[in-house]
Amino acid sequence: MEQVTIERLGHQGDGIAPGPVFVPGTLPGEVVEGEISGGVMAAPKIVTPAETRVKPPCRHAKSCGGCALQHASDDFVAGWKVDVVRKALSAQGIDADFRPIETSPRHSRRRATFTARRTKKGALVGFHGRASDTIVEIPDCQLLRPELMAALPMAEALALEGASRKGALALTVTLSPVGLDVAVTGGKPLDGPLQMALAQLTETRGLARLTWDDEVIALREPPAQRFGAAQVVPPPGAFLQATEEGEAALLAATREIVGDARRVVDLFAGCGTFSLPLAERAEVHAVEGDRAMTAALEAGWRRAQGLKRVTTEARDLFRRPLLPDELKRFDAVVLDPPRAGAEAQVEELAEAKPPVIAYVSCNPVTFARDAARLIAAGYRLSWVQVVDQFRWSTHVELVGSFTRTDM
Ligand SMILES: C[S@@+](CC[C@H](N)C(=O)[O-])C[C@H]1O[C@@H](n2cnc3c(N)ncnc32)[C@H](O)[C@@H]1O
Repeated sequence: MEQVTIERLGHQGDGIAPGPVFVPGTLPGEVVEGEISGGVMAAPKIVTPAETRVKPPCRHAKSCGGCALQHASDDFVAGWKVDVVRKALSAQGIDADFRPIETSPRHSRRRATFTARRTKKGALVGFHGRASDTIVEIPDCQLLRPELMAALPMAEALALEGASRKGALALTVTLSPVGLDVAVTGGKPLDGPLQMALAQLTETRGLARLTWDDEVIALREPPAQRFGAAQVVPPPGAFLQATEEGEAALLAATREIVGDARRVVDLFAGCGTFSLPLAERAEVHAVEGDRAMTAALEAGWRRAQGLKRVTTEARDLFRRPLLPDELKRFDAVVLDPPRAGAEAQVEELAEAKPPVIAYVSCNPVTFARDAARLIAAGYRLSWVQVVDQFRWSTHVELVGSFTRTDM
């Protein structure tokens, strides 16, 4: 048995004591005791709890892998997330003003990927267990919207019908105003009888759309998402911001940065989360790698009333970033890349120097790397808005406002 004191949290939410020793489920300042093997104290006994420790609000917290920080107070988690961004920036020598974090409330997730398996007695649906392949049932989940919780029996029925004896299903379930949009992978191969059974299940369960390994089985009603004045039917399983509140916070910050710009380019535009609301005031060119998403965005724009012109382009922005010649017609840039960041595109932006850049990021480390390049090119990082739509996880999102120092 050894006793150690936790100094800080790592990126996965584990406590870290000098050594380093990784101690899951602990908080800075706590004294803990247990066996250490390979630099990990897997089953710590808390000798002195931190003041920031709370009783996890969810009874599945210990076993479920969905949340890593339920044992910490809301204030601690908020401060820690802001600090993760602050430290990533300061590692690049960047200082910035931070706006108060926007945290989505409990029960606000509108999209989740469940795992489901057939069992001897029936079917099991839930999230993966903590660092394991087991499935943990989550009848009291504190993250999901009630409409998503109500999807659990439907997911069981899908597993009974379409899961093989050995494999597990991954079910991505997204809320839409006309019902659930469900995309399943990992199931039995589709044959006639399975197709019929799944189509029937779509009817009886009132699903809006059911997709099986990229094949749309049934579409009762197009599961449109509202982006400003437009309604977009995303391709099955397509990216959507995790909560309405998170999306609103990201959009509000983006709108503020874009300001009165008349021509905006939205890079990594998805299905138009930012492009379509911004088109209320500006012409927007939306660039995105996935052609099905640009097609959905464009169709949504065509059906909407009162928006300015929106054009779309399917393009791989890692391999073929927009060049300075193409960027020069825009007064503002919105940039929302995946976790890898936007190194190649930022290189071109540093050259083109558009007046303002709203950089939306889900990875503080690549954001800080790209921010350093923009600052070296003559931008100032005016402020950062951290947004937490993955409550109790270690995931951090943010919007950074870049303005040119010479303007
Ligand atoms: C974080 S999502 C943002 C989407 C959108 N801005 C939104 O808020 O809904 C990142 C987007 O980048 C797209 N993407 C990923 N790699 C890409 C690439 N190499 N070139 C262009 N787009 C890419 C993804 O398809 C996804 O839609």
